[in-house]
Amino acid sequence: MLGEYVYLDNGAITRMDERVLEAMKPYFFDVYAVATSEFGYSMGIEAREALDDSRKILAQSLGAGEEEFIFTSGSTESSNIAIKGVALALGDKKGKHIIVSKIEDFPVLYSAKSLEKQGFEVTYLDVDDEGFIDLEKLRDCIREDTILVSIQHANQEIGTLQDIATIAQICQEKKVVFHTDATHSFTRAPLDVNNIPVDLVTVSAHTIHGPHGVGGLYIRKGTPLRKWMDGGFQEFNFRAGLENIPGAVGFAKAVQLIDDNENQKLQEMRDRLLDRILNEVPQTTLNGSRLKRSPQNSNITFHFVEGESITLHLDMRGFAVSTGSACFSRSLEASHVITGIGGDHERAHGSVRFTFGRFNTMEDVDNVVDAVTDVVENLRRISPLGKTD
Ligand SMILES: Cc1ncc(COP(=O)(O)O)c(C=O)c1O
Repeated sequence: MLGEYVYLDNGAITRMDERVLEAMKPYFFDVYAVATSEFGYSMGIEAREALDDSRKILAQSLGAGEEEFIFTSGSTESSNIAIKGVALALGDKKGKHIIVSKIEDFPVLYSAKSLEKQGFEVTYLDVDDEGFIDLEKLRDCIREDTILVSIQHANQEIGTLQDIATIAQICQEKKVVFHTDATHSFTRAPLDVNNIPVDLVTVSAHTIHGPHGVGGLYIRKGTPLRKWMDGGFQEFNFRAGLENIPGAVGFAKAVQLIDDNENQKLQEMRDRLLDRILNEVPQTTLNGSRLKRSPQNSNITFHFVEGESITLHLDMRGFAVSTGSACFSRSLEASHVITGIGGDHERAHGSVRFTFGRFNTMEDVDNVVDAVTDVVENLRRISPLGKTD
């Protein structure tokens, strides 16, 4: 499309890998039947086998059993199935109290808000200046009538990796269901359900060079979860609607293509960008934790400049980066994540997120740092936002 365009918004969506497309193709053109049981016709049986094989790969990547993973249309649906499903299963039996963090992404936040309108009570946990919840506060907030805790693994904007192992342990001790939105950590940071007693895990293919519009939900065996979607009886009867077989096959291929070397490379690019910008560009602030953050995420506030101006100028120079709220960045409101970590509106509006993916190189890092240094210097010269040195 744009020749030398450098895409650094992999936190919003990643470019699908050609090998993923190759794996999917037969399920569009050769094996396109609806998945059927062994009593159906052969094309349907083949489709079922492809779905089962893909499910196995996804389940294994989390250390789960095959019957504990369902495919969905993305993270939004997964989190909705999880949160509203637990509310339906336990709301009348155990209680109507739910706990989420203030910096969750919108599928979790708005699921919680929608339940509030139906009589549930939601505690929105504060986070510290790096984005971490206070584990003792979480423990104190859990009550007799608490049915669910939903705390993300990696944050969508600032990459902070919560200590979900301890959160899961607290929930297990207190006998409360624990859901985590792992959209931005899945396959990038370790998450094994054999070591971490989490009950529900939301994942998505679009952040790992898989097909867009495909996701999944890990459901630990025995988790109280009631289906709310009316229609068919697919995915162990947790959702309704024909299975997306090419999508499932593509998601599985995307998982198989990720390895530790790739994650190491992402982390090196992240660290180089952070080191260079924080050392070379004055009046900059790191958003999130330096040490406990997802390998692909960097987020920096350039004070006295608007993030939108930076992204526009970088776009003109051939770089795609984002500002404000991750995958829902059409909003001009101050990011609830940056204000959640104690930032004011100026810090929120000056924040820029650079997120790396498989197709980026160290050269891209150096080029974008040079470009942003120049852009910020120029914008500050004409900035109406105050002090520039
Ligand atoms: C943390 C988080 N959860 C959920 C979503 C929504 O994902 P999907 O488009 O797969 O529904 C996003 C968007 O990338 C996200 O950042």
